Amino acid sequence: MEYAKSSVLVSGGAGFIGVNFVRGLLGRREIPRIVVLDALTYAGNGASLDGIDDDRLHFVHGDIRDQALVEKLLREHEAGSIVHFAAESHVDRSISGPDAFVSTNVDGTHAMLKAARSVWLEGTGVDHRFHHVSTDEVYGSLGPGDAPFTEGHQYQPNSPYSASKAASDHLVRAYHHTFGLQVTTTNCSNNYGPYQFPEKLIPLMIVKILGGQPLPIYGDGMQVRDWLFVDDHCRAIEACLERGVAGELYNIGGSNERPNIEIVQKLCEMIDERFGASESLANRFPECPAARGETSMSLLTHVKDRPGHDRRYAIDFRRAEAELGYHPQETFESGFSRTVDWYLENEAWWRGVMDGSYRRWIDSNYASR
Ligand code: NAD
Ligand code: DAU
Repeated sequence: MEYAKSSVLVSGGAGFIGVNFVRGLLGRREIPRIVVLDALTYAGNGASLDGIDDDRLHFVHGDIRDQALVEKLLREHEAGSIVHFAAESHVDRSISGPDAFVSTNVDGTHAMLKAARSVWLEGTGVDHRFHHVSTDEVYGSLGPGDAPFTEGHQYQPNSPYSASKAASDHLVRAYHHTFGLQVTTTNCSNNYGPYQFPEKLIPLMIVKILGGQPLPIYGDGMQVRDWLFVDDHCRAIEACLERGVAGELYNIGGSNERPNIEIVQKLCEMIDERFGASESLANRFPECPAARGETSMSLLTHVKDRPGHDRRYAIDFRRAEAELGYHPQETFESGFSRTVDWYLENEAWWRGVMDGSYRRWIDSNYASR
């Protein structure tokens, strides 16, 4: 289908990846309307959409589990595609409270699928696409010498988060095979970049370094992730909407496999370098060791490991390269540099999302459904 010719419904478009996706999509002038449906949980911040001056963006404060609302939005805006980001996304939270993960990720995805089926497949049906954003974590954990995950790798989720995402992937697949819904799924590795809530490794470490707080390294810090700059992921999703084959999965990676400890060391180095080059940073962040000419590495603290912690993820994205024309553009150096600079330049954003003040602001600025 030519997705760019009809309105797009983006669930979770006020979250980290969703917001980056929406900002990129607005560059496509031919898209008539982008409808963002987001419940604004702690991870969703309408303020991340702030400053967008484009009347094609329509924000709806609502829940993906509300099937009637999703149906209404699809009809009202004549949306021909859904890009489904909305989820509970943080593994540690799924360990301390799995219920929300099953409810949002499984029941929520099912409600979205039911709504899409009801609106798009009724009568003779309309041209459509349901794109589901999933994760490499559904494949489980790799050993040091194992080959990277391919799309044919067995699903072996280990955390309540990845189990709930795996369940949602299966439902998406089933709605294609049983009802003929035109679905695609991307399973991607760890994203990083602007607008990421400071609970995930990279933004958490940046704000802790700036605040001179201990940097909690789970276990030995030798767990490996494949780091993917968020814009590369967003480009892959767009390529999948354009060229992906309905019913298929595509793995998306960043070609950046690194142990956690190396990531944190790199962030410390980059921040120390920036303090060395700018006196004003020491005035803004006096608690940072670099403000006293010390190394931020002094903050490194090994803490108890995450229960069931997956040791290594690695992605084989040759299918996406061959069939979608996808290739990551950002390198480890360039992506990290852009990210550190963004957090230095957007202190008000991260302080606001962390203390909840942006959410209160948003509540009074955006109408609920
Ligand atoms: P996020 O936690 O930053 O954002 C999730 C968004 O969904 C928030 O805006 C939140 O308000 C919204 N949301 C949550 N529950 C909702 C509900 N019931 N109804 C409507 N909106 C709701 O997540 P993210 O990091 O942007 O991840 C987006 C998607 O990508 C998720 O599906 C996640 O599983 C997947 N993913 C993320 C990564 C990563 O590294 N961040 C990697 C692979 C896959
Ligand atoms: O692989 C894709 C997944 O990446 C996504 O599906 C998830 O939504 C996303 O949260 C992410 O999961 P991880 O568990 O890999 O990301 P997180 O940022 O929580 O942790 C990255 C690694 O860093 C992991 O090995 C745990 C470790 N870690 C994390 C935190 C928050 C620490 O050592 N200390 C920390 O304080």
